[in-house]
Amino acid sequence: MRAVFEAEVASVVPLHHVPKLHAELQQLQPDASGIVRWVPPPGLKYCAGGTALQNVQIQTPQYRSIKMCELRLIEEKAATILAANKSAHHWVVDLGSGPGAYCKGIVAEALRHCQSVTYTPLDTSPEAIDAATELYASDLPAAKILPHLGSWDDAMQTSFYKDLPENTEITATLMGSTAGNFPVDYMVDFIQGFLSTWEKLPFPAKLVVFVDAAPSDRKPTQVVIDAYEGKEILDLDCHMMKMVNASLDLDFSLDKFKHCIDYDFKEEALVRWWEAVEDFPVSHHGKPLTLVCKGTRIQTEISRKFSDSLLQSLAERAGAHLEIHRTDDDFYKAATFTRGTAANDGFQNFESFVHKIDATGA
Ligand SMILES: C[S@@+](CC[C@H](N)C(=O)[O-])C[C@H]1O[C@@H](n2cnc3c(N)ncnc32)[C@H](O)[C@@H]1O
Repeated sequence: MRAVFEAEVASVVPLHHVPKLHAELQQLQPDASGIVRWVPPPGLKYCAGGTALQNVQIQTPQYRSIKMCELRLIEEKAATILAANKSAHHWVVDLGSGPGAYCKGIVAEALRHCQSVTYTPLDTSPEAIDAATELYASDLPAAKILPHLGSWDDAMQTSFYKDLPENTEITATLMGSTAGNFPVDYMVDFIQGFLSTWEKLPFPAKLVVFVDAAPSDRKPTQVVIDAYEGKEILDLDCHMMKMVNASLDLDFSLDKFKHCIDYDFKEEALVRWWEAVEDFPVSHHGKPLTLVCKGTRIQTEISRKFSDSLLQSLAERAGAHLEIHRTDDDFYKAATFTRGTAANDGFQNFESFVHKIDATGA
């Protein structure tokens, strides 16, 4: 059992990374806003039962409020999000599908309009793939199921798209606010990765990223914060600190910290952290490693929320055309990224600019 645990932790924090992480802790400095922050390897939260705790948390009524917004968006806007070519074969690839429950509305919509539909749940978790395969076989038997156990990087290879009918249209979805955990640069690479692969294929294709909306004049900040309140979140963040201690052989004591949660407007993200309430020493293997000062933050979560301007800047950086679909209350969004029209937009703007010059006789 101990060996399994150690292997799991070592897959997130390989032994040769430990000295670098210790050095980070020894050199903590205030950032531009005067706050001392340390971000442990995020994958630690999933180790040794962390995934099970996460699964409990996403069932809480508070968190389900976000999932309900996603469902509502699909109910309200599935047809416009899918924008299916009615005669085509439609292939829905559900990136990081989990058990696939939320993509059902999209696949059902495709079945309403298209001659044939294939659904691919794609996930690194075998349990997720099995659950999704079972769910679609029972609830949407008219869809052909083509499961893929592996990473979404696999779907960024042209070899992934073989043996498809001539008139295939592809919709890849990234649901469940998964994109909220991506750093912005990774998100740009992710969009570009898909669009540049699809450019080499003879099929129309789009990437639809479902995201929780940033606070706005229609969405109060407190709504965002409330979705992350509760004992289950505290359990997750306690677990994260246990994993920090286990992976780095440290003795952080939670009674020296208070648990904090807030919306960071600069990062456009919900952030959770442990904040030191006094100065105290931390030891490695019983030997002093560093002194943690009062106010130091150990960040456990960053969950990005998306304003329209953030989505627009992602699209611009990825050279993509963007269309934003939203719930009527603007709480949740689906951003559709496609290639081709962005460059054309530029050209059309240029053309209309030339026309304007012509019209004014300049
Ligand atoms: C936040 S969950 C969302 C699950 C589901 N789409 C939903 O809406 O409930 C993220 C999912 O992405 C999967 N995942 C994480 N990294 C992945 C990767 N590199 N490739 C494919 N799936 C991944 C996880 O196993 C997990 O099932």
